Amino acid sequence: MELTASHSIPLSDGNSIPLIGLGTYTPKGTAYESVKIAIETGYRHIDGALIYYNEHEVGQAIRDKITDGTVKREDIFYCGKVCKAYFLVRPTLEKTLTTLQLDYVDLYIIGLPMAFKVCTHFNVDYIVYYCAFLCLSQALEACKDAGLVKSLGVSNFNKRQLELILNNRKYKYSNLGNVECHPYFTQQNWLEYCRQNGIVIVGYSPLGTSRDPSWYDDLLVSIAKKYNKTTAQVCLRFNVQRGVVVIPRAQPCSHKENFEIFDFSLSDADMKATHRNWKQVDVIAHKRASGHLFTNRCRPSARQLQLIQLERHFSLKKPPHLCQFSHRLANN
Ligand SMILES: NC(=O)c1ccc[n+]([C@@H]2O[C@H](COP(=O)([O-])OP(=O)(O)OC[C@H]3O[C@@H](n4cnc5c(N)ncnc54)[C@H](OP(=O)(O)O)[C@@H]3O)[C@@H](O)[C@H]2O)c1
Repeated sequence: MELTASHSIPLSDGNSIPLIGLGTYTPKGTAYESVKIAIETGYRHIDGALIYYNEHEVGQAIRDKITDGTVKREDIFYCGKVCKAYFLVRPTLEKTLTTLQLDYVDLYIIGLPMAFKVCTHFNVDYIVYYCAFLCLSQALEACKDAGLVKSLGVSNFNKRQLELILNNRKYKYSNLGNVECHPYFTQQNWLEYCRQNGIVIVGYSPLGTSRDPSWYDDLLVSIAKKYNKTTAQVCLRFNVQRGVVVIPRAQPCSHKENFEIFDFSLSDADMKATHRNWKQVDVIAHKRASGHLFTNRCRPSARQLQLIQLERHFSLKKPPHLCQFSHRLANN
């Protein structure tokens, strides 16, 4: 199928998500201009979060572009995120809506497969509470039922964590997985698992974030030259060509470049070469969280095993009870 800049991928709940979006984890004071110019360039999907502390700027830009007639609210796809305890899901979403001054968000995702210990700070102490993120899912589903959000998803979940939600018939809405994804970290197994389960993948940090200046190697540079494109465009094209939604963050001067990835297509050989070109990356998300993404391959610690057993044992019981239980356990 030929991909176009307005291409959207259908979600299993009947909604759809634009294949390219704009990341808004930008330095303070820059989001308004970035979003405004992105919308003028043609972006219709904006990835944001209350914890980026710039939703007021993002909301202002969206509203200004609605007011000047560039877009209608229904043309814009806004994704927000929650990373909290289950009882804070709705208040956090309401705070996002008030800050954006919008009536609903198109997508709301659980930012991390974990919840904070009660009364601790974001950077200080958090842990994978398997039980707690099931509660988060339930709270999110209630927000969808209330019409505050159109679609739901998860972010930074591994296969086992996602399975917990998919296998639990109480959770009927989650249909999107958001993970770090770029040519050096292609997430192929995860992608296949998600495809089999009707889950759409959003690749965050699709340009590899701002890790270091020598990030792009000779292979990517030579492929880009061959197509008369930039390495950034090759990175983005690589993902969209395999059905992964991309949400690059950039200064406004790069918006057009990052959007112009629909007038060429990588050959099978170049897709394969790019795919095999992985390198060791220091994963952005949450290295300190025990039991997270890559620990799947390692032996779990005694405490993780204890949590997993608890999660299995209690997963059909009432969420509040579970959360209190796991908080107590974690505080031991
Ligand atoms: N769910 C999650 O846990 C999670 C985690 C991380 C990020 N995200 C989302 O994903 C978005 C994107 O990820 P990211 O912000 O980590 O980084 P990214 O989009 O992979 O990379 C951003 C970096 O690439 C540079 N860049 C952009 N366009 C370029 C171009 N055409 N040529 C050369 N360099 C270019 C930017 O530089 P300039 O700024 O100088 O243009 C910036 O340094 C975030 O903004 C956020 O919305 C989600």
